[in-house]
Amino acid sequence: MHDSRETSARHAFVTGYPVKHSRSPLIHGHWLEKLGLAGSYTRQEVSPEDFAGFISRLKSGESGFVGGNVTIPHKETAYRLADRPDALSEELGASNTLWLEGGRLCATNTDGYGFLANLDAAAPGWNRTDRAVILGAGGASRAIIQAVRDRGVGEIHVVNRTVARAQELADRFGPKVHAHGMEALAEVTKEAGLFVNTTSLGMDGEAAPDFDFSPLASDAVVTDIVYVPLVAPILRQASAQGFATVDGLGMLLHQAVPGFEKWFGVRPTVDAALRNLILADM
Ligand code: ATR
Repeated sequence: MHDSRETSARHAFVTGYPVKHSRSPLIHGHWLEKLGLAGSYTRQEVSPEDFAGFISRLKSGESGFVGGNVTIPHKETAYRLADRPDALSEELGASNTLWLEGGRLCATNTDGYGFLANLDAAAPGWNRTDRAVILGAGGASRAIIQAVRDRGVGEIHVVNRTVARAQELADRFGPKVHAHGMEALAEVTKEAGLFVNTTSLGMDGEAAPDFDFSPLASDAVVTDIVYVPLVAPILRQASAQGFATVDGLGMLLHQAVPGFEKWFGVRPTVDAALRNLILADM
């Protein structure tokens, strides 16, 4: 049977406000070229006032897009405007990936997938642990809590400067998730096998506080979702203390995989060439 995907060009987007800093066009452009596919992936800067109109032109087919990525500040609205958000989006209340299926707008959130795929690739075996510590309770931490819980980690400790925000996530994500203030860090890191930093600690011009990672399990993995700089201050400390570390660039690359497959019909791979392409752009 003839597959129209092989011949007709498909067009996808990343929308945000602003969107010029997004590296997604580099990633998808690399895959389109490498796989020899006709199509495009472009930045579409859309203000909050214009977003509903943008989605309505997407649904009607008028814009000619098969789908795209959604970034700040549109993730929550994208979820609300989708006809078929999946269960992951539903629980997060936010979607970062949209695609059309039979005229209906489908939505998912691929951040959790990207986080896990990056860890699986860079630190296979990390999920032998039954205890994870996640520092931070902002937007970025949600999909990670969800993903780590769904992978079956038994106890997830969310540590945050503002305990109320951590508590809100514990309430949202169920009994495996526990909320703490910063003072609990030493206690909850005891024998944990995964430590994730989702905060900007040490990134805003101030020195990162000294973290003592020694209570962690000896085979623990420490990861940071930040990828500029590639080796975040907290990773430098963990590495100096002898722990395996995973940087955040892989999460960005892996979270792009499911969307590309939906829009262009081929599952792309995350390889060193792609990583080097993004590193060269920093
Ligand atoms: P994002 O969506 O990128 O996660 P965010 O919603 O602004 O961004 O969340 C930033 C996270 O970093 C929060 O957990 C924040 O703690 P609060 O909830 O207490 O604000 C944390 N954070 C930022 N700067 C911090 C600092 N200097 N010390 C401790 N935590 C900090």
